[in-house]
Amino acid sequence: MKTILCIGAGYVGGPTMAMIAKKCPDIKVLVVDIDAARIQAWQSDRLPIYEPGLAELVKATLNKNLFFSTDVAAGIREADIIFVSVNTPTKTFGEGAGRAANLQYWEKTAREIKANATSDKIVVEKSTLPVRTAEAMERILHSGNKTVHFEVLSNPEFLAEGTATKDLETPDRILIGGHDTESGHRAVAALADVYAHWVPRNRILTTSVWSSELSKLAANAFLAQRISSINSLSALCERTEANISEVARAIGMDARIGSRFLNASVGFGGSCFKKDILNLVYLCQHYGLTEVATYWEQVVTMNEYQEDRFAKKMSSTMFNTVAGKRIAVFGFAFKADTGDTRESPAIRVCRYLIEERAAVVVTDPKALENAKKDLADLAGKITYEPDPYKAAEGAHALAVITDWEDYATLDYKRIYDSMVKPAFIFDGRNCLDHKTLFEIGFNVHPIGKIPLSHL
Ligand code: NAD
Ligand code: UGA
Repeated sequence: MKTILCIGAGYVGGPTMAMIAKKCPDIKVLVVDIDAARIQAWQSDRLPIYEPGLAELVKATLNKNLFFSTDVAAGIREADIIFVSVNTPTKTFGEGAGRAANLQYWEKTAREIKANATSDKIVVEKSTLPVRTAEAMERILHSGNKTVHFEVLSNPEFLAEGTATKDLETPDRILIGGHDTESGHRAVAALADVYAHWVPRNRILTTSVWSSELSKLAANAFLAQRISSINSLSALCERTEANISEVARAIGMDARIGSRFLNASVGFGGSCFKKDILNLVYLCQHYGLTEVATYWEQVVTMNEYQEDRFAKKMSSTMFNTVAGKRIAVFGFAFKADTGDTRESPAIRVCRYLIEERAAVVVTDPKALENAKKDLADLAGKITYEPDPYKAAEGAHALAVITDWEDYATLDYKRIYDSMVKPAFIFDGRNCLDHKTLFEIGFNVHPIGKIPLSHL
């Protein structure tokens, strides 16, 4: 039986390997991590991440052909194919701080693979990495001892959180980058055979390693650019009485533009868009492509502007002060159906409100534990309340940051009755029924649309 190892049991490593285990009963899938608590949690009833359908997926294969462990060295010795899915956050120190990718975790993995491998391995970059990282990985792997051959492939992951199981089951494409050599072709074919257990061959795309590495950064940059583009126009809509949903619909019906990823919002969050664009910006600067770097950096600048614009609009609408006012923040996750709060717009909005001395109460069905960690330095200044009705009690305003489906169907008459008047709703996702809310008595402030105000 073939063994696949994945180093890194996070948002990507866990779900991806669970799907491979389910679809490939003839393959043993081993997932390792240095974080013992995380490894423990994957084997318990409380998985370390929330993702619809994931618990069932893991349960179906756990300890049959899917195994979790902290023994990285033993995993390396046993596996034929080694996926590396460790975190690659933005560097916070030294050269390239704030832009370049921090490759320390990734490099440590390469050294561990080299130290423990006793037979030839295919090493797969699953993490998102700067272009030409495979070259550095190969240098480390092939330094010194030359008895073991390592073939490095790039196989970026395109799943989105909240829809990970669906994205893994029916991916738009699987991308495999390999070298144009005999051993490169063999390795690409071996990895393609794994995916071919459930993905049609015409959706398995093979390219050079460098194209594959760059395509991952490019895909995230294009997706984020769409959101920044529509968000930039939402600001213009608010000044001109055009309606951003109508504009999005009108442009999205042009097949060349397409209708998806055109929802104006308080801003995009998530662990990757900002990090990957800044990584792209750093790469362009490194190669002396200043104009290209500036072009892509604007996508991130526009996102920060949108988050700030939302927070400032709350203050200006509420008579230029939120000091002492209770504000209920509905949703802290960076999107619906995840407990992940990395780079969530809620962080910037809450920090602004606290700076303005508002009494902030945060509610979220899945992300309160992460929220507490993100805002640990503000402990005592923020309240956390799982029940949205209780969060809204005595509030001057609601700020909807996450598009949780449940928020659309709450009893807003009950909520209105429990709030201080005039009561405001700032819908950072345009996910509520604004007309009904207005009729109940709320002053409703959407994104990119005319406010519905009784004042
Ligand atoms: P994560 O932080 O959730 O998981 C990474 C894991 O790697 C952690 O559990 C960490 O303990 C472990 N790790 C770090 N160093 C290790 C080592 N030396 N040995 C063993 N384990 C080690 O990160 P993630 O969200 O899963 O992202 C992983 C990569 O995938 C990143 O490069 C990211 O850009 C990319 N990616 C993420 C997503 C997403 O939706 N989160 C989607 C596509 C691609
Ligand atoms: C994104 C990409 O969609 C994945 O393909 C990619 O694999 C992943 O990044 C990654 O590399 O980490 P993710 O960040 O999980 O996935 O979630 P998205 O659905 O892309 O949403 C990102 C942010 O944009 C969220 O805050 C979301 O609410 C926001 N968004 C999305 C909008 O504001 N408007 C939209 O129309 C769509």
